[in-house]
Order: sequence, then structure tokens, then C-alpha cells
Amino acid sequence: MGIINLMTDAQNRLVNPQTRADEPIDPALRPVRLADYIGQAQIKENLNILIAAARQRGDPLEHVLFYGPPGLGKTTLAHILANEMGVNIKTSAGPAIERAGDLAAILTNLRAGDILFIDEIHRLGRAVEEVMYPAMEDFALDIMIGKGPAARSIRLKMPRFTVIGATTRLALVSAPLRARFGAVYRLDYYDPVAIQEILRRAAGRLGITVAEDGYDEIARRARGTPRVALRLLRRVRDFAQVRAKGDVSREVASEALNLLNVDPLGLDEVDRRVLLTIIEKYNGGPVGLNTIAASIGEEPDTIMDVVEPYLLQLGFLDRTPQGRVATRGAYEHLKIVFPEQPGQPRLL
Ligand SMILES: Nc1ncnc2c1ncn2[C@@H]1O[C@H](COP(=O)(O)OP(=O)(O)O)[C@@H](O)[C@H]1O
Ligand SMILES: [Mg+2]
Repeated sequence: MGIINLMTDAQNRLVNPQTRADEPIDPALRPVRLADYIGQAQIKENLNILIAAARQRGDPLEHVLFYGPPGLGKTTLAHILANEMGVNIKTSAGPAIERAGDLAAILTNLRAGDILFIDEIHRLGRAVEEVMYPAMEDFALDIMIGKGPAARSIRLKMPRFTVIGATTRLALVSAPLRARFGAVYRLDYYDPVAIQEILRRAAGRLGITVAEDGYDEIARRARGTPRVALRLLRRVRDFAQVRAKGDVSREVASEALNLLNVDPLGLDEVDRRVLLTIIEKYNGGPVGLNTIAASIGEEPDTIMDVVEPYLLQLGFLDRTPQGRVATRGAYEHLKIVFPEQPGQPRLL
């Protein structure tokens, strides 16, 4: 069994400062059916068609690839697809499948229609990918027997199955692998209304009383990310329980989140340090990702996966061929005077 690792939230937390060292998210909060999955309307519509079409034909689901920043619901969607299709799902992750033999062992254990979910699929090794190609395309496993001139390959037929891949880095998924997915969907940050809806459902399940403006306050600071929203809700609940007799108003939410150093736009300590490093140490940029990472003692991967997508979305950061540049918006948000002429920025 050891080959198939259950690497979901625990692993995400390793690369996600928003959830690192946090408690695992209550499985009861994960939507189980597509209809309970909030937001991402276009993806849901496409998935509904994909499911219905496969069902009508009696085929397994197409291979599906989800990509986008952490915490937006890729793993959740993979499990929903398994529920909707009424099939088993096996979960693994790119770094866990080290050798071609590991993948072969996983594949030979699949039954017809099963879903194999591979998280962080951009981290599959070359040799493992080579096994994936015929498996995904022809439902076949090419196995080498013997070595040297006497070696020959035999082809094992396998049952028709579905691969669901998830990645935060589409660019790192090789072209031949990407080409074998019948459907590729990009998950985007959620709008505040959808985040509020997610918070409302979670509060209901957790038995937390939140005022309308309380939802608004948490949603605005949740950087459009369900995982972050749910984490903030828990912290606000703690605060309300200890300091405010349990009710979550806007004031209570705002106080709790300020105490957590989550600012009104949802930037946390790491986000601000990235921007301040670019602005104060490197004159606003351009500066390379690795230099920024080294300056603040974070992994470049964390900055690229978690910090940058949101800063780019806010328009606080530009990626240029020379490196990262802080925009005027970033200066203004941090209350630092934007230097009209290149030069030393000053604090307001
Ligand atoms: N659309 C959604 N509606 C409700 N909850 C969601 C939604 N998307 C994600 N979540 C919740 O957010 C958390 C993170 O989702 P997850 O699927 O693990 O993200 P990812 O795999 O993209 O990092 C989970 O607890 C999940 O239940
Ligand atoms: Mg995930």
C-alpha cells in the first residue's frame, strides 16, 4: 500500500504560509457534490457536461487537469468528480511517485472507471511521465523485460480509468503530459460574494453566529481563497469566543484579523515583507525572485505559488524579464511615497 500517499492538506500546508502550522480543515466543510461547490460557475458548467456525457456513453470520465493557486478547490473538485461519477478515487502526488515502478504498481491496482488523483503533477519525474503517456492515451502499460540487447517491452492492457491532475504551476507540466488531458481548467480567485457564501455555509456547519457585515469583513481579507477564508473564520471565532461573548460583528472580525496581521486587503506578514524588500532594499525593483526569497528567508516556491499570484492580481507587482517590480499601488498601500524619479523611497 505504501506507494499511495494521502497527501492533501498536510502537504499543502507545507508550501502555504496561510495554512502552515494550522489545524487540518474540517472534512465536513468540504463540499461533496458539484451543486454544493460555490463559485467557479464556468468550470462547474463544463464539468456538468463532462460528467453527463461520460455517463450517457458509459465511458470513464475524461482526464482532467486543474491548475491555479493553492486553496482554491482543486483537490475538492477531484473528490467531487469521483462522487458524481460514483467511482473510487486514489490519491497520490508528483513527488511521492518516485520511480516508474511506483506508478506501474498504482496503475495495476486501478479498476475500470477509477479516478487516480495526482496532486502537484508538475513534480512527476521524466521516467514516471513516460509510463503515464501510454497509460493515459491507450490504457496500456509498457513494461521492459530484461536488460541490454535482449531487453524487450511487453504491453499490458489496463482497465479504462481517469487521471485527475492538479498543479499550481501549469508552465512546469510538460507539453506531452498536458496534451493527454481532455479537459484543462484554471481556477481563479473567488469574488467576495462567493467567499461570503462559503463562509456562511461553514459558519452554519460550525455553529458560529456571524453578522452580515462580519461576513463582509472576513471575505474582504480572505484573498479570494476558500482555504484562507475558512482559516480566518476559525481564528475570528476563537477571538469572538474569548473576547466578545461569541458574536461576530464587523468590529470583532476586524479586530481579530488586525491582531493576526492580516490587513484590509488580506495581505499578511510574508506578502508585506516581499513588497518591502523590493521597495526598500532594491529601490522598487527589478529584482530576481531568488534574491527576494533569500532576503526574507522564504522558499522561492512559496513566494511564486502563494504570494505572487495574489500581489499580481492586486496589481501590486509586475513581472518583467529583469525581475519583480513593485508598482505605485504597492507603495500607496504600504504608505510609502512613490519615487517619481528613480531614487530612494521615503516613508510617509
Ligand atoms: N467552491 C468551494 N466551495 C466551498 N468550499 C470550498 C470551495 N473550494 C474550496 N473549498 C474549501 O477550501 C479548502 C481548500 O480547498 P482544496 O480543494 O484543498 O484546494 P486546493 O486543492 O486547490 O489547494 C477546502 O477545505 C475546501 O473544502
Ligand atoms: Mg490540493
